[in-house]
Amino acid sequence: EISGRKWTEVKELNGGLKDQDVLIRGRCQAIRAVGKKMAFVVVRERGFTVQCILTVTPDVVSAHMVKFATSLSRESIVDIEGVISVPATTITGATQQVEVQVRKLYCVNKAIPTLPINIEDAARSEEEIEKALKAGEQLVRVNQDTRLNFRVLDIRTPANQGIFRIQCQVENMFRQFLLSEGFVGIHTPKLIAGSSEGGSAVFKLDYKGQPACLAQSPQLHKQMAICGDFGRVFEIGPVFRAEDSFTHRHLCEFTGLDVEMEIKEHYSEVMDIVDRLFVTMFDSLNDTCQKELEAINAQYRFKPLKYLRKTLRLTFEEGIQMLKEAGVEIDPLGDLNTESERKLGQLVLEKYDTEFYILHRYPLAVRPFYTMPCYENPLYSNSFDVFIRGEEIISGAQRVHVPEYLTERAQACGIDVKTIATYIDSFRYGAPPHGGFGVGLERVVMLFCALNNIRKSSLFPRDPQRIAP
Ligand code: 4AD
Repeated sequence: EISGRKWTEVKELNGGLKDQDVLIRGRCQAIRAVGKKMAFVVVRERGFTVQCILTVTPDVVSAHMVKFATSLSRESIVDIEGVISVPATTITGATQQVEVQVRKLYCVNKAIPTLPINIEDAARSEEEIEKALKAGEQLVRVNQDTRLNFRVLDIRTPANQGIFRIQCQVENMFRQFLLSEGFVGIHTPKLIAGSSEGGSAVFKLDYKGQPACLAQSPQLHKQMAICGDFGRVFEIGPVFRAEDSFTHRHLCEFTGLDVEMEIKEHYSEVMDIVDRLFVTMFDSLNDTCQKELEAINAQYRFKPLKYLRKTLRLTFEEGIQMLKEAGVEIDPLGDLNTESERKLGQLVLEKYDTEFYILHRYPLAVRPFYTMPCYENPLYSNSFDVFIRGEEIISGAQRVHVPEYLTERAQACGIDVKTIATYIDSFRYGAPPHGGFGVGLERVVMLFCALNNIRKSSLFPRDPQRIAP
């Protein structure tokens, strides 16, 4: 039977509710008995905690009920009815500075008594761990593999609750901004006949007797949507990479935020979208996700991202020059490695006071076959990468829209054009100049929050060694 009672979220509990009755649901994070007549239960809901107190009181709370509360296992789900009180001293260890004087407590579902991860330990910052260990506290440092093995427990920590709410807001802002700019959301197939980015890093599979693979990007089909006259499109979807990169920033499956648009005059129109999209997104994260950012910061200390109102654009040549002046030996027509990207990030921060910038006009030789060469100097290309804190989050470019030249470029890059025949044919029916970019969602979240590993910003990460949970 539905009672129609009003539920309050733990995060909403505050002094303004003093003496009022509330009904909450949460998990038992910590349970402590004080003799036989009193018990404290810290209840957590979505990363917010409140201290609930059971005191034996005739006709309201029995000794049996106190005993029942102290017998609950951690992480069990409870419903509590009680009255809000405001304690004289600050409550340490709970996010809400009020208490609930319990009248009724129901166990909705219990957790097993021994958990593989203690959420309070998993939520501690490095400093807190060091301090606790020095003080001789018995503490188990929860390592990354354990966290990922028992991810449903790990993602209950306040920092993780924050990370995935930030991720949702990044995606939301991406969609909102692009819709407001006249883009259409599309979905392209993830089962495709051949590689979409060149190279062999694809997951191969059998498609009813035909060789196929999981899409490495929506690249070819998002361009075909432009050939189909949508003008401006975006896609949010899974991207699969089979490369054996066991690094802090590579996953085998990630979420791609992709954009493709007609270009009227110059590929800077695509960079303009990147600029306004990300400044709007960062502003919104700072404005609307303060609580989440605080929760992440409490565990993984980081400084807010420095970005300019108008995003800095440097050419690849300018970047190489800055690196050279700093004494870094570098091939002017080669790609940047992780180390030189980081170094350039530092130099840019020192000189321009920003941790978010665009590097454009990359050497053609290091870009995929579909990239448009620079008209004035075909050694370079109309392409760009975008960096947060010295690490790549986006790559983009103007594309070749002339089918004969596209065929030539694909052949020059060693691609079997038969495998992309329908893609090339799409350009034979009239195709406008166009360009776009691809963003890695997990990378944006990782770098905005300065997390040290992309597995922290992927709910159930897939890497060369992990396909479960
Ligand atoms: O640089 P990538 O491979 O570019 C493309 O896929 C192009 N089709 C994009 C375009 O429109 N020109 O991937 C784009 C972004 C990278 O900047 C990075 O943020 C992310 O996707 N990314 C990965 N994220 C996690 N794990 C991986 N293995 C990634 N590979 C790329």
